[in-house]
Formats: sequence, structure tokens, C-alpha cells
Amino acid sequence: MRIVHTINEIRQSVLGKKQQNARVGLVPTMGALHAGHGSLVEAAVEECDFVVVSIFVNPTQFGPSEDFEKYPRTLDTDAAYCEQLGADIIFAPSADQMYPAEQLTWVDTEKLTEVLCGQSRPGHFRGVTTVCAKLFNIVQPDLAYFGQKDAQQAIVIQRMVKDLNMPLEIHICPIVREDDGLAMSSRNKYLSADQRKQALCLYKALTECQSQVAAGQRQVALLIDAMKQVIQQHQGQIDYISIVDPQTLDSLEQIKQKALVLVAVNIGKTRLIDNLSIDLNTPANPI
Ligand code: PAJ
Repeated sequence: MRIVHTINEIRQSVLGKKQQNARVGLVPTMGALHAGHGSLVEAAVEECDFVVVSIFVNPTQFGPSEDFEKYPRTLDTDAAYCEQLGADIIFAPSADQMYPAEQLTWVDTEKLTEVLCGQSRPGHFRGVTTVCAKLFNIVQPDLAYFGQKDAQQAIVIQRMVKDLNMPLEIHICPIVREDDGLAMSSRNKYLSADQRKQALCLYKALTECQSQVAAGQRQVALLIDAMKQVIQQHQGQIDYISIVDPQTLDSLEQIKQKALVLVAVNIGKTRLIDNLSIDLNTPANPI
């Protein structure tokens, strides 16, 4: 497995593979890889002939008071992990490679980015869509892999690809969790032992919601109240709890068929997110 740092190098090696008709898969990441990222790489290795993992802590998606500086950077262990999973190449550009001059052109997906995480992190999704558009143009993959863990991001990226007729397919992979249910996240590294216990409130709130829905509850306000209680019992600071239409992200009052339940909670200074997909027409899987 190779590690390259420049746009020229990654273009050259993908081009060589494309000339051999290889199906190219891209897994965009910010590094500090865990089994959640690993599941995307595994899916890509299974479905593609040539797998690129990009590792880039993208400055344009962090707000001024967010954790860009302290975001974990662990390229050596990330590379060993990717190699073990069967990835073919890592693209780990510098900020200067990706943003050599002031960026004057941005990709902005409207409406879907104005709610939920977009409301608490202004400019975040503009950074995500812009860097993903750049990565798609640089690597030109046939398929790109994203995680359901960042449900709003997955919806926004799919919409960007559709609206801009980008010639690739987006695959969304299920959320990978720790044994006790906490969704894996690079930011879990920030948690102290006590906070790690508190952090379980996101999962507990979602499972509470899932069991109330299974018992027949359809009123969103009551489901949100129940989740609020679980999170407050664990001293989590709620950023938002929302139950929305999974396509439009519009808030629902009642669950009729499909719904997406999303939570964002601050545990100390660490902001964690998690979500649950509901479809009343299919039997619920334990999350
Ligand atoms: P990052 O947080 O590193 O996540 C990279 C990908 O891994 C995302 O698609 C995310 O949804 C997925 N992922 C993270 N934790 C997961 C889990 N527990 N289970 C399944 N998938 C998981 O998301 C980003 O980076 C950036 O915004 C990026 C898309 C790379 C643009 O900079």
C-alpha cells in the first residue's frame, strides 16, 4: 500500500488503474481511524478493484472555536490499519495541496444544511461539500463511501452529487458501535472515564425512542421528551433532539412511516452525535 501526499501522484495512480478498467472506490476521512471508518474501507475493498482512503483534517469545515487544532492526527497507525484492511493507497494531502490559494469557489447545498448540525455549526457543511467535491474531482472514483453515523452529512452529499450530476455512486454504511452501544467517533478520544459513561446517554435515548415506537408511540413531542429525560439524567447538554423526514429533514409531528431520529449532545466540551432510522413497514433491528 502506498501513501501519497500530492494531487499529481494520486491522479497518476488512479489514471493507471482506470486504464485497466478498475472500479475505483474512495473513502473520505479525517483520519484517527477506528472500526467505523474500517467498515467503510472493508465495503470498498469488497466492491471495488482499487481503494483510495483520503486522510485530510479539512480546515474549512471547522468553526473558529472548534477543535481543528487538537483533532487527533495519527497517520502512521491509520496507514497500518488501512493496509491491514486491504486498501490500495492513502491520499494524505497537506492543507496547502488542497487549498493552495484563497478558496473563492464553494459548493453550498441549501435547505438541508440549514437545520440540525448546520444550525449549531454555521459554515460546517459548506466546508464538507466543498472538500468532498474537490476530492471527487481529484480522485474521480466510481464509488464513494460514507457512514450513516453522520446522517445529515450523508444526505447532503447524496443531494450534492444528484444536483451537480457528479458521475459517481454514494454508498452509505451502517453505524458501527462500541460493545456498550456508543457510536464510534474520533472525538470519543477526548472523553475522560466519567464522560465516557455519560456519553452512553445518546445511545440510551435512541433505544428508549425505539422501544416507545415499538410499543405504539407515534407522537414526536412525547418521544422527544422521553429522550430529553434520558440525556438529562446523564448530565448531557442537549444541542438538539429532532425527529425528521429522512429525505427533506423537515420536522415531523407524528411518525407515519419513515423517520430519522437525531441527537447532538455536549459531554463536557465534546460534541457527540448519533441517530436512529425508523421505518414502520419493516421490523426494527436492535441498534
Ligand atoms: P470523519 O469524521 O473522519 O468520518 C469519515 C467517514 O467515516 C464519514 O463518512 C463518517 O460518517 C464515517 N464514520 C465515522 N464514524 C462512523 C461509525 N461509527 N460508523 C460508521 N461510519 C462512521 O466525516 C468526515 O470525516 C468528514 O466530514 C469528511 C467526509 C471526510 C470530509 O472532510
